Amino acid sequence: TARFPEGYTIRPLRRSDYYGDYLPTLRVLTTVGEPTLAEFNARYDFISSRNDTYYILVICDESATVVGTGAVIVERKFIHNMGLVGHIEDIAVAKNQQGKKLGLRIIQALDAVAERVGCYKSILDCSEANEGFYVKCGFKRAGLEMAHYY
Ligand code: ACO
Repeated sequence: TARFPEGYTIRPLRRSDYYGDYLPTLRVLTTVGEPTLAEFNARYDFISSRNDTYYILVICDESATVVGTGAVIVERKFIHNMGLVGHIEDIAVAKNQQGKKLGLRIIQALDAVAERVGCYKSILDCSEANEGFYVKCGFKRAGLEMAHYY
């Protein structure tokens, strides 16, 4: 198990994270846009009303600044005896905090959530450039991602 740097913590996303570095942290991953407080709160409230399905974690540094995040979404299937599958999404570590095992720690925490909830596996999509990171986290290449944008 990876150790945290001294003073770092991991916790669920909060509504008040609109005001901190949660959105800037996500910007290392992709386009975020500029959500208003009302837009953020509406999405947060939707997600938190489904807290058996959406799990969003953040890592904070010693000054309580958000420096990393990740999510797992639990899908309920009919196949595999009503199997549950974890979908790992939106993993991001602030640029100046990369290489401290924070990404690994986020994945370990999300894996623990998925296992506790009863998922038989977790899956994710990533670029070739990130394959090595996920291999170090215990994942292996399986299948091929396809997308249809609207
Ligand atoms: N390729 C190969 N190995 C890597 C890579 C990489 N791209 N990134 C990290 N590693 C290795 C590290 O060297 C380390 O190995 P070690 O244990 O031998 O020292 C191990 O993986 C763990 O690395 P961490 O320090 O935990 O990685 P970090 O905290 O920097 O987080 C992350 C990795 C999340 C990919 C980060 O670089 C990042 O935020 N990148 C930009 C956003 C992004 O691409 N996110 C992932 C999108 S895919 C998805 O969300 C499902």
